[in-house]
Amino acid sequence: MISDPYDTSNRFLWGLSSEVDFLNHGSFGACPKAVLDRQMALREMMEMDPVEFIDNVGRGLWSEALSRLSDFLNADPHGLAFVSNATTGVNTVLMSLELDPGDKILVTDTTYQACRNAVDAVVQRSGCEVTVARIPLPVDDEEEILEAILNAVDSRTRLALIDTISSPTGIRMPFERLVRGLQDLGVDVLLDAAHGPGLVPLDIDVLNAAYVTGNCHKWLCTPKGSAFLHVREDRRFVRPLVISHGATLPESMGSRFRLEFDWTGTLDPTPWMCIPAAIDHLASMSPRGWGGIMERNRNLALKARSHIISEVGLQPVCSEDFVTSMAAFIIPGESFFPDEDPLHRRLLERHGIQVPVQGWPPHNRRYLRISAHLYNSIDQYERLAEALKSELRS
Ligand SMILES: Cc1ncc(COP(=O)(O)O)c(C=O)c1O
Repeated sequence: MISDPYDTSNRFLWGLSSEVDFLNHGSFGACPKAVLDRQMALREMMEMDPVEFIDNVGRGLWSEALSRLSDFLNADPHGLAFVSNATTGVNTVLMSLELDPGDKILVTDTTYQACRNAVDAVVQRSGCEVTVARIPLPVDDEEEILEAILNAVDSRTRLALIDTISSPTGIRMPFERLVRGLQDLGVDVLLDAAHGPGLVPLDIDVLNAAYVTGNCHKWLCTPKGSAFLHVREDRRFVRPLVISHGATLPESMGSRFRLEFDWTGTLDPTPWMCIPAAIDHLASMSPRGWGGIMERNRNLALKARSHIISEVGLQPVCSEDFVTSMAAFIIPGESFFPDEDPLHRRLLERHGIQVPVQGWPPHNRRYLRISAHLYNSIDQYERLAEALKSELRS
């Protein structure tokens, strides 16, 4: 059980290297050993009789995982589908839309590049257009974000791709108000909750976004390849990227949406089947379950952030209200390195600290972003501050 930011007792529950201060949960998550053990047990069960597993036993595990995830997200299970990652969720929605030349898709200047690329591919094919809303930075008033995005809408805007938490800046977007505001203007929202479940409370039913995709392999700590797409009832014309048996199975077996998304060809279903184990295992580490985890991690990120601001003098990208369990800072100096930012490599090789430092061309800036999860403790960020002081001096 953990609650204080100095507690390091959870670290051994993950297989993270003891040589490295791992401060980048945000990129690819990190899966605890017990959840990986569960995955291995499921894989062994599957390989004892793959046919029996896929045709029979696995179906129950699949339904259980869907049901636990829909409870966790308060989402209609009939509209919830498993996908391998949020990028796939975004592509799935975009590929299902019929867009006309002149239609517009709204993104922001902090939209994750892979998702922006997916938008651009659809734009090229359909002849529609992209509108980019510029998020003012540093930000300390959510009205500025709302204004920037809502003012970018016009009568041709068909879809808005909105993040829960932006990747380069770690800023928690006022996504609940954005979904409401945009949809009141007649614009469907595709909510990119890649950083969603386990990081911020998500109530998909109340949000009522046309589409929500999110990762379980980040903050829920499932094995990698575990994500979801939720489609609101009136938009369930959405089809998976891979068309398979579900297209011709009789509807007496289930809705077309269910049949198509639940079988997209032979694959390893264990990352999704580990969702219940991940939810329960992590919840058992905090006296107040997931509410306690999110609060503890945010408090640690805030404490770390204050320490870095006061010790290193870095400028944060937003006020505290926008911080979740990630926080970003502006790193002075040249912002574009075609391959890898040298500061990232130096922090890893000289100081044993894994933390992202990346240029963000739309802002002509580079950002360093810290993450905090249950295996982190404040001493790790204190070491980061010392390392930054020496690296930024040289
Ligand atoms: C905002 C955002 N969207 C999408 C993604 C893509 O996630 P994945 O690689 O799991 O598809 C990320 C990954 O960090 C992200 O931060």
